[in-house]
Amino acid sequence: MTETPKKLFIKTYGCQMNVYDSDRMADALAPHGYQPTQVMEEADLVVLNTCHIREKASEKVFSELGRLRELREEARAAGGPGFMIGVAGCVAQAEGDEIVRRAKGSVDLVFGPQSYHRLPELIKRAHNGATIVETDFPTEDKFEHLPAASREVTLARGLTAFLTVQEGCDKFCSFCVVPYTRGAEVSRPLEQVLAEAHNLAAAGVRDLTLLGQNVNAYHGLDTSGRTVGLGELCRRLADIEGLARIRYTTSHPLDMTDELLAAHRDVPALMPYLHMPVQSGSDRILAAMNRRHTRADYMRVIERIMAVRPDMAMSGDFIVGFPGETDADFEETLSIAREVNYASAYTFKYSTRPGTPGATMDDQVPEAKKTERLQRLNDQMTGQMRAFGQSVVGRVLPVLIEKKGRMPGQVGGRSPYLQAVHMEGPERLIGTIQPVEILAAGNNSISGKIVTVAEPKSVSVIESQVAMAQA
Ligand code: 5AD
Ligand code: SF4
Repeated sequence: MTETPKKLFIKTYGCQMNVYDSDRMADALAPHGYQPTQVMEEADLVVLNTCHIREKASEKVFSELGRLRELREEARAAGGPGFMIGVAGCVAQAEGDEIVRRAKGSVDLVFGPQSYHRLPELIKRAHNGATIVETDFPTEDKFEHLPAASREVTLARGLTAFLTVQEGCDKFCSFCVVPYTRGAEVSRPLEQVLAEAHNLAAAGVRDLTLLGQNVNAYHGLDTSGRTVGLGELCRRLADIEGLARIRYTTSHPLDMTDELLAAHRDVPALMPYLHMPVQSGSDRILAAMNRRHTRADYMRVIERIMAVRPDMAMSGDFIVGFPGETDADFEETLSIAREVNYASAYTFKYSTRPGTPGATMDDQVPEAKKTERLQRLNDQMTGQMRAFGQSVVGRVLPVLIEKKGRMPGQVGGRSPYLQAVHMEGPERLIGTIQPVEILAAGNNSISGKIVTVAEPKSVSVIESQVAMAQA
């Protein structure tokens, strides 16, 4: 099946699912002779994998397309063929026709997130001239048709990996475009997920993050047609040799089931770090956002989580300046962020998205007010994040050693809480989990020293060494 070698350049915007999708597009094209390149000018195909979640993200795509067009003209003026241009992802899905209109014939391919498996065929069709737009939601399962990455490619991608287990969303928060761009909630079958995880682990992946817009609503079918929840999926994944760490993102508070919490209680590989957005601390705004939960409901979920994993570090998303948000509502957001004691947070100014209920609501908040609130929330969150960093100083944490460090003799890794960790250590430890005493916390990373070098061996032995070192 191998064809003439060609070069593929993918620029990824937005969330982790787009990062995963970009890799899967590369996997789909690899059997057709496409090798990845980091140099846009030498590519035969340039794909922008786009994000539509906020206005700024979408607008970037249009300006990048202008730049691409110029680059291609220059390449052609120099006598070369120039590259083919494709727009993928959520902007392609939501604004396919607009892209074609504004690009005036310079874009060859526009395809939505559910069409990646058709990419080789779309490229062939695009060679005939007209722009190909593929934004229907196909009936077939793209994952059934996407080839797995080779072992070498997976190895090169590193010790941590993403795996999409669920896509789309049925919640319809009134600010969010996801239900329109990614479609209805769909879960991948259990065996399909396990097979992909086996391949990743066999190629050396140690830290796996399961992805889904509403990942804890996962309800995949097993081979007997039984529905399996995220808790059971995590238990099955934890049995895979080599998979030491399991995480998932993004979760909705209403889908934190007892089954999932029991997995957090029983499965040590499920990391004590959970991203569970609340968006606002005000009940009035939560209702207007159609979040379907109150502040008290959210806090009750946190209590249930802490009851099974008292060491759980929380991460969240916040939107400031949703229509109708008053100063008092915003104070509630500041106060819930303090009450939950988030270890990290992603904060956003509300951005009007066409087609969502929020876009036509009265009482849109002026931009200056949004900016001021964002600044205050960020100031508070910076303090909280710093305090979280400081809180691990003096502790011994199990650190997955991932790569060579910046200085000779150093290695870099990550803590259970996703913190980057620097320490002295030999490269042969890459891929192992080491007990590291944390000595200092900076703004974006922590540093420490390996307590006793645990030579490569089973993960559970190392985890128990860590427990002993902490005792
Ligand atoms: N404006 C601002 N932020 C948004 N998000 C989603 N939609 C919008 C919007 N219209 C944020 C939410 C979500 C995260 C992925 O992006 O906080 O959790
Ligand atoms: Fe968007 Fe709400 Fe669904 Fe999250 S739960 S993807 S914020 S609609």
